[in-house]
Amino acid sequence: MRQIVTTATGNIDVLNVEEKPDPTPAADQVVIRVRAAGLNFADILSRQGLYPDSPPKPCVMGYEVSGVVEAVGKDVNSSFAGKSVVAMTRFGGQSEMVAVKATQMFEKPERLTFEEAAAIPVNYLTAYALLVVMGSLHAGESVLIHNAGGGVGLAALEIAKKIGAVTYGTASQRKHKFLTERGLNHAIDYRNEDWLPVLQQLTNGRGVDLVIDPIGGAHWKKSYAALRHTGRLGMFGVSTASANGFTGKLKMLKAAIQTPWFHPFRLLNKNRGVFGLNLGHMWHEPEKVAVWMRDILRGVEEEWINPHVDQAFSFAEVGKAHRYLEERKNIGKVVLVPGA
Ligand SMILES: NC(=O)c1ccc[n+]([C@@H]2O[C@H](COP(=O)([O-])OP(=O)(O)OC[C@H]3O[C@@H](n4cnc5c(N)ncnc54)[C@H](OP(=O)(O)O)[C@@H]3O)[C@@H](O)[C@H]2O)c1
Repeated sequence: MRQIVTTATGNIDVLNVEEKPDPTPAADQVVIRVRAAGLNFADILSRQGLYPDSPPKPCVMGYEVSGVVEAVGKDVNSSFAGKSVVAMTRFGGQSEMVAVKATQMFEKPERLTFEEAAAIPVNYLTAYALLVVMGSLHAGESVLIHNAGGGVGLAALEIAKKIGAVTYGTASQRKHKFLTERGLNHAIDYRNEDWLPVLQQLTNGRGVDLVIDPIGGAHWKKSYAALRHTGRLGMFGVSTASANGFTGKLKMLKAAIQTPWFHPFRLLNKNRGVFGLNLGHMWHEPEKVAVWMRDILRGVEEEWINPHVDQAFSFAEVGKAHRYLEERKNIGKVVLVPGA
């Protein structure tokens, strides 16, 4: 089988497609023949040497796949063989075949293509944990979704709409039309105007009930300032640091230095909450994540969850796919397909 290997830290030329032996399932695993694998921002940060959770290089990234079960381990129900599934993979997903614990696999909703199904786990579980589980977003409340045009952003928009919240989103201007068509109430062009005064104006100076912020560093302080009373800030990424080489290291250092501290007394007197989320640190809680995933898949069946795949790149085009994300060209998800 072929895999996408990040051979070292560096530019896109460190990405190779390599032949490896086919995997065999352990007792509690299945082997999936991958039809589509999600590409995530974490894969870019890993290649840039800025992702602490990355396996040591050379490594095969990939947190999620869709495909068909080809082999089952001895402790797994054999009726899974031949089923179309979607699964969370603790790396290694960007392969033609992957072995994964059966508990991390779910039946693929029939109405989704393999590419759409591969867009579900990371984006929707992250958005669900941020909005529903930790952010406790309620009908009639308001949410500011930063980078609303990204994979997590679009997922958050669908969930917020279902909850019945008023939605504000920051995104590059060219993504606004699409976002408005997907139901975003207020799009803010944060790259050409200072989003905080615009948000304050839109909310009559009150701010919002929930902000989800993947940008990090000093930006978290600004997002905190956008909260109204009983508002919550969910922090879940440091995309501000994304850059190749020494620049990336410097940006990460700057983000670390500018990261705010939240004093309990200030939180108490302002009626605010702050929380962090790292989905990659939830592998020891499979039952919890499975409950979220089943809710999300129910949303697919009910047709209020409709993952949007911007583009599918073949494994051979993985460098192009990385560049596409780094250049912020994507609206929604980018997936990798094995191809010829
Ligand atoms: N903690 C977790 O569990 C978890 C899980 C998933 C993702 N994340 C994080 O969430 C963030 C978004 O993930 P995603 O999958 O939605 O990514 P994505 O689909 O690639 O979208 C990212 C969007 O963020 C904006 N952006 C802001 N700063 C950027 C930068 N320096 N370089 C490139 N794009 C930048 C761009 O939108 P505009 O064109 O609108 O600026 C871009 O399209 C990332 O930081 C990722 O690491 C965290």
